[in-house]
Parts: sequence; C-alpha cells; structure tokens
Amino acid sequence: RTVSRNAADGVVTVGGIDVKTLAEEFGTPAYFLDEADFRARCRAWREAFKGEGEDADVFYAGKAFLSRAVVRWLNEEGLNLDVCSAGELATALAAGMPAERIALHGNNKSTAEIERAVEEGVGRIVLDSFQEIVRVAHIAQRLGRRQRVQIRITVGVEAHTHEFIATAHEDQKFGIPLAGGLAAEAVRRALKLDGLELIGIHSHIGSQIFDTSGFEVAAHRVVGLLKEIRDEHGVELPEIDLGGGLGIAYTSEDDPREPHEIAKALRDIVHRECDAAGLAVPRLSVEPGRAIVGPTAFTLYEVGTVKELPGLRTYVSVDGGMSDNIRTALYDAEYSVALVSRASTAEPMLSRVVGKHCESGDIVVRDAFLPADLAPGDLIAVPATGAYCRSMASNYNHALRPPVVAVRDGQAREIVRRETEEDLLRLDVG
Ligand code: LLP
Repeated sequence: RTVSRNAADGVVTVGGIDVKTLAEEFGTPAYFLDEADFRARCRAWREAFKGEGEDADVFYAGKAFLSRAVVRWLNEEGLNLDVCSAGELATALAAGMPAERIALHGNNKSTAEIERAVEEGVGRIVLDSFQEIVRVAHIAQRLGRRQRVQIRITVGVEAHTHEFIATAHEDQKFGIPLAGGLAAEAVRRALKLDGLELIGIHSHIGSQIFDTSGFEVAAHRVVGLLKEIRDEHGVELPEIDLGGGLGIAYTSEDDPREPHEIAKALRDIVHRECDAAGLAVPRLSVEPGRAIVGPTAFTLYEVGTVKELPGLRTYVSVDGGMSDNIRTALYDAEYSVALVSRASTAEPMLSRVVGKHCESGDIVVRDAFLPADLAPGDLIAVPATGAYCRSMASNYNHALRPPVVAVRDGQAREIVRRETEEDLLRLDVG
C-alpha cells in the first residue's frame, strides 16, 4: 500500500499525494484508488493460482467496480473478466478486453445480452437455469456458433456471511441445485445440444467469506459431480470455476485469508479428489472481486456538522452517505473511519458517521471513535470502499455520484468523473 501519515502534521498521503491537495483538486466526497495496490493484488492472484506446471484463470468480478481504466489494468496484468450485464460487457469491450477472456454471468440474462455475448465470442457463458440452457443453445445455433458454457450449480453449503450475499444454499435464485439430481439433469440436457460446448461446472458460494472450509466443501462437491458425469457420459469436463467471495478487512477485527492460502486449499482438494477418482485435474478458475479492488480505495468526506447528543453519541454528518456507500444500510456492514487532514491529541468520542440523505438509516459508519475536537471542514476517510460502493452508488435525493480518482506515483486522475447537474438533467427529458 502507498498510504501513510505524515508524522509532523498528521496529514495522510496516498500514492505520493496528500489528501488536502486531493480534496482541493477533486472535491469531496470522492473515492481515491491506489492503482499500484490494485495491480499488485491482480498479480498476487495470478501468481497464487499459477501452481507448478499448471495454470489457472483469474476472472476479476466486474460488479465490484468496473471502468475502462480498470479493464486496461486487468488486461495488462493478465486477468480475465466476469461480467453480469450488457452494460458491463460493453464497458469491457470498449476498453479492449478480448472477448475470449470474458465470462458472462446472470440469473436472467436477456436474449439481447446472450446474442451480443455469443456474437462477440465471449469465452464462456455461465448457465443458470434449465430454460437458459435451451435459450443459449438456440441463440448460438441460430448464429452458427458453438458457445462454450459452464453450468452454475448450488452445492448446498451454508456460507457464513450476510443472508443477502450468501449464494450456495439451495433456497435462492442462483444456480441449479446439486441436490435431487437437478445439476446432473442439467448436464444431461446441455451435452445433447449442438449449440453448446459444455466446458465445466461453476460454483460461487457467497461473498465476504473468511474461512476456506466452505470453498473446500464446494470444490469437493463440484469434483464429485465431474466424477458422476464421467461415469454416466464418459466425458471429463476440462474446467471448474469456484467463484469469488474471499473476504477483506473492513475493520481491525477482520482477519482475511490471502490469495495464496485460498489457492493452496483449493488446489490441494481438487488434486486429492481427482486423483482418488481417477480424473484428470481440470483447469481451475476463480472470480475475486472485492478481494482485489476493495482494499485499494477509500472514500474521502468533508465533515459538515458535528452534533453531540449528551449521554448518547456524537453524530458526524458528512457530504455523502448512503448514495455513495449503501453497504452499511443494506448489510449492516462495518467500516472504520479516521481523521486524515490533521493530527489531533483530543480524547476519542463515540461517533456515528452519517450522510446528508433524508432518512435516519443513512449511516456510513455505525460506531467509531473520532477525536473530540473534530470540526466542520475536517476531512475524514473511510477505508476499504473500493468494492460495491461506487458500483452500487445511486442518485438518491438527486445526489451527484462521486468521482473515482486513481492515484499513482504522485499523479492523480479521474477514471470516473464526478456527476454534474447537467448529467442529472440530461435524462430528465421533461
Ligand atoms: N462470481 C459470482 C458469480 C458472483 O456472483 C460474485 C459476487 C463474485 C464472483 C464476486 O464476489 P466477491 O469476490 O466480490 O465477493 N453487493 C454485495 C456483494 C454481492 C456479491 C455478488 N456476487 C456487497 O456489497 O457485499
């Protein structure tokens, strides 16, 4: 990381530029993304999954945060890209990601999305339902193509994370359950269709997960299905994808796993189970989003008002809120926060950092200690906002969505510019 605090005046610097200079140039609120850190994380994932004599593919999950600059960095660092909508696909293609390195996801891809993906020649479409198996096969056939596909299954693992972001239990909208022979039936149907080339099985168990055991159980069950497929059809599928989901540290209490730990756990189990079953080891792929981009950015806010409620806590209002970070309101997510524009030796005060939106659930950081001399005009930063903050940002209360500024080697530039009132009014056609 290139974030540090100047010992003399307490001002925080990122990528060689201090936050006061950044705030003057780009305004607040804004997301500042450390490009060197982003690239280093891409390389750590690539290297972790390389293994001895075997390669694996790392598909960055674009839903976490996507822009053309990000696509170029991924391209340069040798990563592939997982997209889940026409908009993400268009961004990827516009920035020059080769189609064969793109995977298309989604539980309800439209016909237009599928057609575009097939025409462009995306490397894989991840099939999510029985109807979609037929739909993609027909579209591919009509376009004279044979589309490479994986089937997304739910392996019945309870990932220990928030209910809204757990995806491997059976009672939810994604994937086809392994239970009851449904996944095996999906494979049976896909293998029969000329428009499809079934290359593998996909599993994504959820997001913000700290423990490798859920991934291990998933890998075990996916390999179990490969074995069933071999026994029934005499076909060995060449690939498996174990999704994304590795958690990051939002506060000092979080203790995340490193890419090499997850890589080793997954490789060990896949090798062991394949050897035991007499299967060739399939090519592995993963889809980290949060673990790559999450820690690389922070949100910089300016303090507007500080309201002390005696005996309760102090409400610190900032110039953004749930429109630039919905995660606290939506998932009870925890964040930390720090005063970054000066030093302070004042006592810590129990604070709640809130936004400027018209509802009381508009909380950015639920409980935090900030110095008691905090005052309007101070800059505070919330770290680890690179994933699912700008990508889930809204115009609630006609807020203008903040820019994403990439900082590197003393240079800062907007990779997504700040919205303007003209942007807002452009869509309002009267
Ligand atoms: N692959 C698939 C098929 C996914 O659905 C997802 C995330 C990922 C990969 C990437 O997961 P990651 O490595 O980023 O955990 N908005 C929520 C997270 C939703 C995740 C949706 N799918 C949040 O802010 O926590």
